[in-house]
Amino acid sequence: MQSEEERGPERLAIDGATPAKQRPTPAMYPGAAVMNAEEEQAALAVARSHRLFRYYGPGTGPGQVAALEEAFAAAVGVPHALAVNSGTSALCTALAAAGIGPGDEVVVPAYTWVASAMAVAVMGATPVVAEVDDSLTLDPADVARRTTSRTRAVLPVHMRGTPADLEPLAAFCRERGVALIEDVAQADGGSYRGRRLGAWGDIGCFSLQFTKLLTSGEGGLVTTGDRRLYERAVIFHDGAGAGAREGFAEPPFLGMNFRMPELCGAVALAQLRKLPELLGRLRGAAAAIRDGIADLGLRLRRLPDPAGDCGVCVVFFLPDARRKPQVLAALRAERIGCGSLWDPGSRDAHVYTGWEALMQRRAHYGPWRPAAPADALVPDACPRSLELLGRAVHVDVHPLFSDEDVEGTIRGIRRVVRALA
Ligand SMILES: Cc1ncc(COP(=O)(O)O)c(C=O)c1O
Repeated sequence: MQSEEERGPERLAIDGATPAKQRPTPAMYPGAAVMNAEEEQAALAVARSHRLFRYYGPGTGPGQVAALEEAFAAAVGVPHALAVNSGTSALCTALAAAGIGPGDEVVVPAYTWVASAMAVAVMGATPVVAEVDDSLTLDPADVARRTTSRTRAVLPVHMRGTPADLEPLAAFCRERGVALIEDVAQADGGSYRGRRLGAWGDIGCFSLQFTKLLTSGEGGLVTTGDRRLYERAVIFHDGAGAGAREGFAEPPFLGMNFRMPELCGAVALAQLRKLPELLGRLRGAAAAIRDGIADLGLRLRRLPDPAGDCGVCVVFFLPDARRKPQVLAALRAERIGCGSLWDPGSRDAHVYTGWEALMQRRAHYGPWRPAAPADALVPDACPRSLELLGRAVHVDVHPLFSDEDVEGTIRGIRRVVRALA
């Protein structure tokens, strides 16, 4: 039998061949994809109890949100978890807990959902954007270059399930005496060097929004090993003080209402029980796809800790960004769920160039005047990140992939790359 090499490029689905994969990849709502009677029962039990608020109502004993916090802290391996009503709220709460505000700078990656940077600005501080490296997470060397005497925190984001290089970042933060705040919104359950994400930083911030690994529609959590930070987080997330603060050493200060409702807590708790299985499926499928395309000579996204990666995607870099539209169209014809991470002129808010309100310095009160160097947030602040993201092809890995889906994905990528990349 002829080898793949000898046969030469195969005909592609885009040219009329049968698609490599039998069915399209479903939309990527990983947590929601595994919802079933467990979440239904949990929500129904709360509705029937009439206890919709975490701090009081009919019935006694700890409610669902408190149970979620306890289970989440245990899962992450930290003493404290605080549930909030979104990932953005988690970020604002973390910044407030760390005492970050006007005049302070926070280093954020060029590639992250806008909320990571916007939370910093809304809290009155200045996001300073830094390059990502070939892991598409914060480049520790560039963080050092962007740090000034005003820097109060570094905010790595574990984008698309991939842990950032936390060891050098944690060492740098320790040395400089600045806070490490992890944005774990996209990497719930991931780990780095055996320790769970969200346990490395002074504070970890999670989201339970609908596209995330675990979801309650909206929601979030803050994790910390530091009692003082925890108390400050509780105070800020419940400024009016509806909750119990008995025994707190920290005095009250101005805050918000970011409290999580019981219905969300119940659904999130049911989802949390499914995380190990969900991650096992994703990791198995992603590793098989990576193995299946390893000999193609493609440059894959670097994984700072492959064992801790959540496996929600496989990303590779094309040698030439100009090939990308053709490659993506061909992959889609093979029924592979895929996308581009950035294109020149794109307004996608996952890349700093698409952070319109920040770039144009518009706040709710009028012009926002960041206390930072003029080049901290300008379109050409991070050319290396744009170059890398511009060549990146993102392939979705779904938790309900069958063996056929995995094999079809491998077959389809091989076909397309051999013919076009
Ligand atoms: C990296 C990252 N940070 C923060 C957030 C904000 O989370 P939320 O939408 O729950 O406010 C998201 C997702 O939406 C995200 O992907």
